[in-house]
Amino acid sequence: MTETKQNTSENYPELFQPLKIGPVEIKNRFAMSPTCIDAIEPGGFVGDRIIYFFAARARGGAGLIFTLPAEIEPNITSVKYMNPWLYNSLHLPGWSELAETIHAWGAKSFVEVSPGGPGRLGALLGDGNALAPSPVPINMDPELVVSKKARKLWEKRGLDLEAHYHIQNVYPMPKEITVEEIHRIEDQVANTVYLSEQAGFDGAEVHTAHGVLGANFLSPYTNLRKDEYGGSMENRTRFTRNILERARRKISKNFALGIRISAAEHVPGGLTAEETAEICQYLEPYVDFFDLSNGVHHESHTFMIPDEDGTVIEEGAVIKRAVKVPVITPSIHNPELGRKAILEGKTDMMASSRQLIVDPDYPNKVREGKSYRKCIKCLLGCTGRIDIGLPLRCELNPDVLLEYRDPELDRRNAPNKKTFTIR
Ligand SMILES: Cc1cc2nc3c(=O)[nH]c(=O)nc-3n(C[C@H](O)[C@H](O)[C@H](O)COP(=O)(O)O)c2cc1C
Repeated sequence: MTETKQNTSENYPELFQPLKIGPVEIKNRFAMSPTCIDAIEPGGFVGDRIIYFFAARARGGAGLIFTLPAEIEPNITSVKYMNPWLYNSLHLPGWSELAETIHAWGAKSFVEVSPGGPGRLGALLGDGNALAPSPVPINMDPELVVSKKARKLWEKRGLDLEAHYHIQNVYPMPKEITVEEIHRIEDQVANTVYLSEQAGFDGAEVHTAHGVLGANFLSPYTNLRKDEYGGSMENRTRFTRNILERARRKISKNFALGIRISAAEHVPGGLTAEETAEICQYLEPYVDFFDLSNGVHHESHTFMIPDEDGTVIEEGAVIKRAVKVPVITPSIHNPELGRKAILEGKTDMMASSRQLIVDPDYPNKVREGKSYRKCIKCLLGCTGRIDIGLPLRCELNPDVLLEYRDPELDRRNAPNKKTFTIR
């Protein structure tokens, strides 16, 4: 396996300063962004493949691990992704094992709680309809999904990108969600946040980014409602505020609560960074942090960011300037960019999904000045597979989802063995 040599002669001390997020102290500025990996156990449970995938990233030095999304009720299911349930106590054993194992390896962990949405993260409720604030169609342009560079790699493999994305481009026209259904989902999301604390996690974030239901309410592009959930800032944020208020009442003061939100939507009529900053100011009294994402889900080029590094930093800075709570910025694969962004006050934490998929030990290697494997952003093993329901792989890391077979990762070998909690 070839590893890309980096100039890591500096050890980036700024990236290894602790950060307080609400009541939770994080040991450094490396976060793993939420990542679904299509590796649930039959029945939708968390098992060893999920536990040790994230444990490897905790052992590798990331201070904060956002988990894969937790699904909030049986009627809500992803159109494409297979994420584990967390809506009753039957689901707690697997999730608590995940929290304990991440803690054993020295990281903190927040659960991403997803209310689904009309797109690929579809909320298919009962009658099979995807629900959204308003029936706005979702169109995806496969041309825009991956960069020219990645497209070449796909073609070299004889992969037909158009056909591939045709498989996943089955977005039903969403049905307008009723107020009754909204109230049920608000309760269910708050319930899953509560169960996240019961399972032993340090915090939770309500997924409100890149095209899920909460994001659709926030955005004038997808929210055309005339009732108390549409129109003004107060109304468009009502769904998210109701969830956060209900969740707060259920959790302890030791548990961090935040949201994931796209810095800007990058679609005509979608939210700009300035508009998102206003929303964040409005929501700030309800949260301990903002974990940024970008774009909308069905325009994956805005969300997965094919080639460049650090593309969310400048828009993230607009939000960072508007609020006082910590801001976490995704898609920073390069420690120098992260260091600079933190020093310039543009973010508080650098986050990545793909860089930690390709090299779980990347934060420790940065600290030790060692070379590390770099993500080439080909999307072949990661989103190229999970988007069609196949378990995660990585073009450069053959160990992905085989971490559970690494005896050294067993939590009995970890530095903090006593990590269980009783609530
Ligand atoms: C395999 C994979 C799965 C992802 N799953 C989720 C998810 O479930 N929820 C979410 O909010 N973002 C998800 N993302 C987006 C990442 O959290 C991140 O915002 C994005 O990949 C850009 O960061 P990166 O360049 O460091 O990968 C996923 C990304 C990848 C690569």
